[in-house]
Amino acid sequence: MKNLGILLSGRGSNFEAIAANVASVKIADARIAVVISNRTDAGGIQTAKRLGIETLVIPSKGKEREDHDREVVTALQQHQVDLICLAGYMRLLSPWFVKQFPHKILNIHPSLLPAFPGLEAQQQAFAYGVKVAGCTVHFVDEELDHGAIIVQKSVPVLENDDEHTLAARILEQEHTAYSEAINLVLNREYRIVGRRFLS
Ligand code: GRF
Repeated sequence: MKNLGILLSGRGSNFEAIAANVASVKIADARIAVVISNRTDAGGIQTAKRLGIETLVIPSKGKEREDHDREVVTALQQHQVDLICLAGYMRLLSPWFVKQFPHKILNIHPSLLPAFPGLEAQQQAFAYGVKVAGCTVHFVDEELDHGAIIVQKSVPVLENDDEHTLAARILEQEHTAYSEAINLVLNREYRIVGRRFLS
């Protein structure tokens, strides 16, 4: 049984999709050991409580990045987490944090990386005028939205889209992409050759 640790800062719909797939055993042999938020008002924390999943709020406000990261890492270690899933966690991890869990931290980003890293990726894509958008699940390394890519899903950008309809279409794909990536990392032998994830 693998222990997942989820880090989030907001709404938590990706977390909820992962939790549903753990419950229905689409993600087999795993449990969500803890959901940690840096924000007290994160909707994902309420969802986790409703689902009976252990939660922890570790506020980041006013703390040095590494001090906060140390608290989070300690909590993850206490929960014996095997895989950490960033799910709308609006914090850059310090290099020290990343080093504690080599190839054990995943992130989801709402663009086809390396296009549009950073904030408001869907709006960036929409404004740029791309015809195809999507999402990426990748390993976390020291650089923002950068590590080896595990799963990508594309969606079309339609003539009558606005940034909200596009973001919603991407989000729907995010909800399946994240669980696929978790399964690939947990249940399959994989290799990383250069930047290429091969399973
Ligand atoms: C998602 O769009 C995800 O790709 C990005 O942050 C958003 C989180 O949404 N990293 P939610 O909190 O999972 O609903």
